[in-house]
Amino acid sequence: MANELLFFRIKTIIKTGKEFFMNIDLLNVIYTRRSIRKFTGERVKEDDLEAILRAGMSAPSAVNVQPWAFVVVTGRGLLDELCGALPYAKMLDKAGAAIIVCGVPDKDDTYAKDYWIMDCSLASGNILLAAHALGYGAVWTAAYVDQERVRSVRRILSIPENIIPLNVIPIGIPADRDVKPVDKFRRENIHWEKW
Ligand SMILES: Cc1cc2nc3c(=O)[nH]c(=O)nc-3n(C[C@H](O)[C@H](O)[C@H](O)COP(=O)(O)O)c2cc1C
Repeated sequence: MANELLFFRIKTIIKTGKEFFMNIDLLNVIYTRRSIRKFTGERVKEDDLEAILRAGMSAPSAVNVQPWAFVVVTGRGLLDELCGALPYAKMLDKAGAAIIVCGVPDKDDTYAKDYWIMDCSLASGNILLAAHALGYGAVWTAAYVDQERVRSVRRILSIPENIIPLNVIPIGIPADRDVKPVDKFRRENIHWEKW
C-alpha cells in the first residue's frame, strides 16, 4: 500500500509573482528529504524562496493563530555573520540563503504563548520539505533554546526582544549528491490500538 501511495501525485498550485503549476510526488519528497550541510554557494532564486515561505505559512497552527514570522537572509555579509556566531551552522558559509523561523508568542492572549513552538516547528518542517521539492538542500540549525544563540541571532538581524528565533535554516544548491535517503521506519515504534 505504501508503495502505491508513493506514486500518488498531488497537483499544487504555487503562486509566486506569476502563477505556475507543479506536479509533486508528495510522499517521495517526504521520504527522500535529508539534512543537507554542503552547498555550492549559488544563490537561491527569489521566486523559489517565496514558494518555500508559502509552504511554511501553509502549516497548521493552534486555533489558526499563525504565531510566526520569517526573516529571509540572502546577503553574503549577514550569512557570514550568522555563520561566525552559530557553532552548529557553519554550512552557512556556502548557503545561498537562510530562513530564520521566529515565534511570536504575544500574537494573541492565549494560544500563541503555549503553542508557538509546535506551530513554528510545523512551519519549519514544511520549509525543509519545500526546499527539497524544489531541488535545494536545507537543514534546521537550532537557535532556541540556547539563549546565547537566540541573543546572537537577535543582535545580528535586529529582531525585537518579544520575538524568538527558533532556528536558522540555511538553504542552497546541494554540493554533495552522496547524501542518500534513509529509511527510518521502525516497526517497534508503533503501537496499534493500545500501547
Ligand atoms: C530541533 C532540531 C535541531 C537541530 N539542530 C541542528 C543544528 O544545530 N545543526 C545541524 O547541523 N543540524 C541540526 N539538526 C538536524 C538534525 O541533526 C537532523 O535532522 C538529524 O540528524 C536527522 O537527519 P536527517 O534530517 O537527514 O533525516 C536539528 C534538527 C532538529 C529537528
